[in-house]
Amino acid sequence: MAASIISGRVVAKEVREEVAGEVEKFKKANGYPPGLAVIIVGDDPASRVYVSSKKRMCENLGIYSEEYAMPESTGQEELIETIEKLNKDEKIHGVLVQLPLPEHLDEGEVLESIDPRKDVDGFHPISVGNFVVGKEAFVPCTPLGIMRLIEKTGVEIKGKRAVVIGRSNIVGKPVAMLLLAQHATVTICHSRTQDLPGVCKEADILVAAVGRPEMVDATYIKPGAVVIDVGVNEVGKREDGKRILVGDVKFDEAKEIASYITPVPGGVGPMTIAMLMRSTMDAAWRAVRDKG
Ligand code: GUN
Repeated sequence: MAASIISGRVVAKEVREEVAGEVEKFKKANGYPPGLAVIIVGDDPASRVYVSSKKRMCENLGIYSEEYAMPESTGQEELIETIEKLNKDEKIHGVLVQLPLPEHLDEGEVLESIDPRKDVDGFHPISVGNFVVGKEAFVPCTPLGIMRLIEKTGVEIKGKRAVVIGRSNIVGKPVAMLLLAQHATVTICHSRTQDLPGVCKEADILVAAVGRPEMVDATYIKPGAVVIDVGVNEVGKREDGKRILVGDVKFDEAKEIASYITPVPGGVGPMTIAMLMRSTMDAAWRAVRDKG
């Protein structure tokens, strides 16, 4: 039987509605909204699109937002000064620096200058460390979105074999830790893994985050597996100039074997910004709690 499709569009809408309700409650209780600051350096077109979507989503949900569009020529000190100002700003509960940064900037130092209490992206080493040892911390948004999608299937994670393809700090490593926290037995695969299809075929839950168009075919998939496709690969343009996107999974083959599968587009993609709104809301609640 063909797999059920997990719609990220539907689940992201649920998350947004949940956050919008909380924003109202927060405003009533505190007299001001949660606030997010987004910093972008340079004019990478894809990053610009992401940043405008974040801003629009804040407006739709009643979250206060500030955007700092800084020129390509911005220096390290100037960028860090901007972040430090936002760290102190009481209207701002979340600070996000859009990646990638221009080459001349030191990304590690920039991310470490964000106050971990406002680190809604979860990229600060303190956030990563706290998360790994099970303390309160922000967690990167795409992995949080992936977990929501898996939870939505109703499939129990506890005790299952989960395989993650990809070991990035933004997706692979954190999603593996989240699955582990839910008591899955987790394997992380990468470019040097031997017999990749064989390892993946043991997975009850398979998360593909490699960035290789349709690499994961039928030979990778265990019958009945939950398949989450994080890939967004441009493989050409349509006549109208629109990009043709495919995932890391050969969808048509995989859907005949899996029990649940995410499409591309419309699967993991819409979840990331929704979870950023969720984390900004959490940051605001925590700020109020910690103020006493
Ligand atoms: N660039 C691509 N994905 C992300 C993300 O999740 N956060 C930030 N800050 N930049 C990104």
